[in-house]
Amino acid sequence: MNRNYDENIKAAVAKFEEMLRGQLERNEKICASKDFIDYAALDKIIIGVCGGDGIGPRITASARRVLEYLLADEVAAGKVEFRDIEGLTIENRAAHNQAIPDDVMEELYKCHVILKGPTTTPRAGDPWPNIESANVMMRKKLDLFANVRPVKVPEKGIDWTFFRENTEGSYAVGSQGINVTDEVACDFCITTTEGTERIARLAYEYARKNKKDHVSIVTKANIIKTTDGKFLRICEEMAKEYPEIRTTEWFIDIMTAKLVDEKRRTDFKVFVLPNLYGDIITDEAAEFQGGVGTAGSANIGKRYAMFEAIHGSAPRMVTEGRDIYADPCSMLRASVLLLSHIGYQREADALEAALDFCMFEDAALKMTGRDTGATCDAFTEYVMANIKK
Ligand code: IPM
Ligand code: MG
Repeated sequence: MNRNYDENIKAAVAKFEEMLRGQLERNEKICASKDFIDYAALDKIIIGVCGGDGIGPRITASARRVLEYLLADEVAAGKVEFRDIEGLTIENRAAHNQAIPDDVMEELYKCHVILKGPTTTPRAGDPWPNIESANVMMRKKLDLFANVRPVKVPEKGIDWTFFRENTEGSYAVGSQGINVTDEVACDFCITTTEGTERIARLAYEYARKNKKDHVSIVTKANIIKTTDGKFLRICEEMAKEYPEIRTTEWFIDIMTAKLVDEKRRTDFKVFVLPNLYGDIITDEAAEFQGGVGTAGSANIGKRYAMFEAIHGSAPRMVTEGRDIYADPCSMLRASVLLLSHIGYQREADALEAALDFCMFEDAALKMTGRDTGATCDAFTEYVMANIKK
């Protein structure tokens, strides 16, 4: 080496140490975390509602309206409460210079589950300070380790459920990378035993309960040998406890290709995969179903759960005045997952059937995102009119 890097290395090692300490502490917390909350044992389930940014408030209001309709008796009996959580807007987050302002976080901690509209994540060049993503922060703070994303296209034989690990991998310390020098940058990827076991357990238990006979483990363990290697090994071990389920192993590149292979893809049922691959491939998967606007997502932890669209806040739809045509289906699909998660399976099934009917079978109204299609409000009413309570 020609140059002296001692000071750069010293500074980088100090940051690296801080990152490692944080991750070891997080790991201890995961290991100490208790069983899943039992919603049936609660006097009241509190559903926090955050509208978010861009098209978020509109599509979240649509989902809330449908949920309030389905849970009207429970709300009247005081068993379920819908609670507005203010302040999860980009303006307020920017004003506090925090991904989630402390007072908003305090309110979120008082809920059991959260219905959340998309929130804007600032990018370079945006007028906002470079704060972290509110989604990612919420997933971390509430330890929502499983991102469950179903994708269904009945006429093409597609019925997939993705179990994306949600708090580790490349996201765990996504804003704690190190610029070692002006020329050399370094990021980190984290896999823990407990963190992998809990997502694998959830995926296999789901497969068993729902009689899905195939689980695919997706990594890039041939290259990312330590962290993806660990993820793969732990999932393989878990597979042995579920002998009735066929397990296949894939690398993310070829799996991305196989999802467009019409002959092979109908064979896939349940996927379990690290955070970043899950992020990428679920957008691809949603595209077959009609785009990210049609896909909902559950973020599940042991104490909390959060339900959201898989897409962003679509600010361009708002600036172009097209937000009245925003597709509420992502948030309505998220509502199906919410209902099922808190124990209202009958209501979840009723909403899912109405959505399948309106999106795939009847299609009297079509969402196109512009004035060639239905408005968000009209589609919401159409779905409600087709719910068999
Ligand atoms: C998702 C989104 C988020 C993610 C963004 C908005 C931070 O793409 O939920 O898939 O990367 O996880
Ligand atoms: Mg994504």
